[in-house]
Amino acid sequence: MCGIIGYCGQEQAPALLLRGLKDLEYRGYDSAGLSVFAPTGLQIVKTAGRVADVEEKWDRQKPKGDIFCGIGHTRWATHGAPTERNAHPHRAGQVCIVHNGIIENADSLRAEFAAKGYPLLSDTDSEILAVLLDAAYARTGEALSAIRYARSRVVGSYACAALFSDQRDVVYAFRKDSPLIAAKTQIGNFLASDFFAVSRYGDRYMIPEEDEVVVLTKEELLICKENGERVVKPVYTVQPDSRDTGKGIFEHYMLKEIFDAPDAVRKTCEAYMRDGLPDFQAFDTQNLRFQASRIGIVACGTALNAGKLGRYFFETFAGLPVFCEIASEFRYYTPPLLPGDLLIFITQSGETADTLAAMREAKKQGVPTLAVVNTPNSAAAREADCVLYTHAGTETAVASTKAYIAQTALLYMLANEIAARKGRLTQAAVRENMRQLDSRLPVGMANILADCGTIQALSDVYCADNASCFFIGRGADYDLAEESALKLKEVSYIHCEAYAAGELKHGTIALIAPHVPVVAIASGERTYEKTVSNLREVRARGARVLLVTDRNPSAELATIADDVYTIPLRGDLFALCAAVFFQLFAYYGALRRGCDVDKPRNLAKSVTVE
Ligand code: AGP
Repeated sequence: MCGIIGYCGQEQAPALLLRGLKDLEYRGYDSAGLSVFAPTGLQIVKTAGRVADVEEKWDRQKPKGDIFCGIGHTRWATHGAPTERNAHPHRAGQVCIVHNGIIENADSLRAEFAAKGYPLLSDTDSEILAVLLDAAYARTGEALSAIRYARSRVVGSYACAALFSDQRDVVYAFRKDSPLIAAKTQIGNFLASDFFAVSRYGDRYMIPEEDEVVVLTKEELLICKENGERVVKPVYTVQPDSRDTGKGIFEHYMLKEIFDAPDAVRKTCEAYMRDGLPDFQAFDTQNLRFQASRIGIVACGTALNAGKLGRYFFETFAGLPVFCEIASEFRYYTPPLLPGDLLIFITQSGETADTLAAMREAKKQGVPTLAVVNTPNSAAAREADCVLYTHAGTETAVASTKAYIAQTALLYMLANEIAARKGRLTQAAVRENMRQLDSRLPVGMANILADCGTIQALSDVYCADNASCFFIGRGADYDLAEESALKLKEVSYIHCEAYAAGELKHGTIALIAPHVPVVAIASGERTYEKTVSNLREVRARGARVLLVTDRNPSAELATIADDVYTIPLRGDLFALCAAVFFQLFAYYGALRRGCDVDKPRNLAKSVTVE
């Protein structure tokens, strides 16, 4: 998603804006730019490509003299190709803006203002914000009333920062649905899409509401209503583990975050375990609804895949009926919700537009909402009736890895807690499950991480030149197959599909031909043999089969798979442990194919538009 940053203070703004844009690069983008109050007036430098390209262009074009104020943008194209013409900032008359979000009625507004003779210089929806602000500002000369007018005309989502050419060294910003923070630091006043863009300069920030305006000057940061009335805001402090500590010894953030998996499990256990048992007492009064009669899990992408594994835990341990819904479907096709429901919204960023909209729909219907979130003070954390934080630490790579691990670990604990309260599991059984989670699982993950060379060799064989790859499993293994397929797909661009192993023969097996790679996940007792027979079916048709299993290597296994990888951790946590294998498998597949591992094409870390 787009990233925005604004600065006003005593330091040279261009360098700070460009640094901040680099810290926002992880969000995924295809063009960038900045606008500053140069000695000669508003100056814009922007280009398709990377922030480094903007920096180079700025170095060529920068004016002499001090520059204390400006705004910057990284664009993830939604309306209009990723070109210089469509890059932000956009200018209309006296106003220059950057925007993160989608203006849904942009076409009708563009037609209206084009008919009034306004020149529209780009193909974007965002440009209309500059036009609306300028049209109103030309009438009133007041920035706040111009903002009020623009808000009254647009439909959609926005975090918008604006400069008004005759208000030197002042930045205005306002939001709806899209994230925006404001931070007063030792070196001046900032605003940004998320805290990581300014975390170098301090650890405290504020979050403007949707009827407020942020105003930055060299001397102060104020947040006010559209009528100018100042607002006192709570100040959030970033926790140390939420700060981005860089890649360290690792070549990519994704690899570092995969290696963080054991720690993510331990930190999540520390947060919700006391004396060897789950401890959610602190949430009893917060409407966590331990007595729910049904659970709905709503999320997107990897977070939804974590929810599907969580469904297995809730159904297996607590005997609870669980439904899982894609958030972008739920928000428009909301299934009938029942009085005893508890809806769980899982989101690493806490800012995913579809998940937030789905949560708001659930709240509108009066259903209790629980958010499982990794990013402190994010919108989901603020808006849910109750929030359980995962403690995976900052996740920077676009592909979610350690957050998935922490999400599933937390859901495992919650399922055990609810099972205990319903009398379906004895305290001894829960204690044993927690021991497995807190000690055996991190060790099992560490063993896989230590074997990354073997996994890279397997990935080279299965990912090198293949255009497609199938992942199959049953039960929790199928839930893991879905996440494993997404992980490999999104970083290596191989077309991957996950299938319930028993479903292949109902059509998809037509795609199995000699050398087509099939990765099978088979563990436990209930359906292991069934999956093995499905493997025989695909092998008989020439597929190249990799089996990931909890069984020890044997002569028999060698007859059903070309390659076998054993993860000797039996039971319900096998899928959670094996997830680390598949994250490494995907990482090496992307590396082998020369893909941009941390910032895959077309993707963004937090999808704040629908
Ligand atoms: C994860 O690898 C993907 N990048 C993506 O599917 C992600 O999980 C999804 O967009 C949800 O993000 P969230 O957890 O921040 O809501």
